[in-house]
Amino acid sequence: MAHVIAVAGKGGVGKTTLCGMLIQYLCEKKKGPVLAVDADANSNLNEVLGVEVDTTLGDVREEIAHAEIAEESPIPKGMSKADYAEVRFEDALAEEDDYDLLVMGRTQGKGCYCFVNGLLQAQLAKYQKNYPYIVVDNEAGMEHISRGILPSMETAILVSDCSRRGVQAVGRIAELIKECDMKPSRVGLIINRAPKAELNPGILEEIRNQGLDLIGVVPQDEAVYEYDCDGKPTVTLPEDNPMRKAAFEIFDKLGL
Ligand SMILES: Nc1ncnc2c1ncn2[C@@H]1O[C@H](COP(=O)(O)OP(=O)(O)O)[C@@H](O)[C@H]1O
Ligand SMILES: [Mg+2]
Repeated sequence: MAHVIAVAGKGGVGKTTLCGMLIQYLCEKKKGPVLAVDADANSNLNEVLGVEVDTTLGDVREEIAHAEIAEESPIPKGMSKADYAEVRFEDALAEEDDYDLLVMGRTQGKGCYCFVNGLLQAQLAKYQKNYPYIVVDNEAGMEHISRGILPSMETAILVSDCSRRGVQAVGRIAELIKECDMKPSRVGLIINRAPKAELNPGILEEIRNQGLDLIGVVPQDEAVYEYDCDGKPTVTLPEDNPMRKAAFEIFDKLGL
């Protein structure tokens, strides 16, 4: 069964960039194939990875949920809705050499998605058998995990910027993980974009107050920011890039 690693934190702290590096790390260590899941409604993991995505699972859910009221049903005659959904879910899998990428995307939210969400949940549970690792780039609420559409996680990586409020925000996510009974075996905190990779005493104190397990500090890195501005995938950063190096060392320590 797949080891599910969920990355969470508030917007803009570097979750997607770190997810991309984690996927790259696992592939380079020959731990693949990895299933990368972009579970942020504002999806952009594909950009960090340099992958084109045509269909999201949101598109498929929309199509299936509204198949009956569509002028012409997309479901071929004689095919069940569930079988058709399975074919379309497979279409949404962007296949690369060492990993596959699924984008949850979003639905318009009108109508009932219970049936199709159930089918998706079953499909994702099946994928758990095909991949040693599933890496999920989440939004702060981790809705797809808390609602059980995505399989439960074994490792949670919380990401914060180098601010008290950032640390408080991940503290709330750690609480949410407990309240929703998600029961990961490990919840670790990464502080990203720290100037010179150093933490000041106030931040360390807040981390202790929140009872968080600090697993590493990643430096602010101009090259990462420039790649992003130029639209270059961060997975093409050189091996000696300081952010990449710091991230890889943290993943080493996690013993994945
Ligand atoms: N260590 C870092 N140094 C410099 N820029 C970074 C670093 N980590 C992330 N960034 C930049 O911060 C922005 C937000 O990162 P992103 O990974 O998209 O955050 P999130 O997914 O949490 O919203 C991007 O422009 C990214 O390139
Ligand atoms: Mg993101």
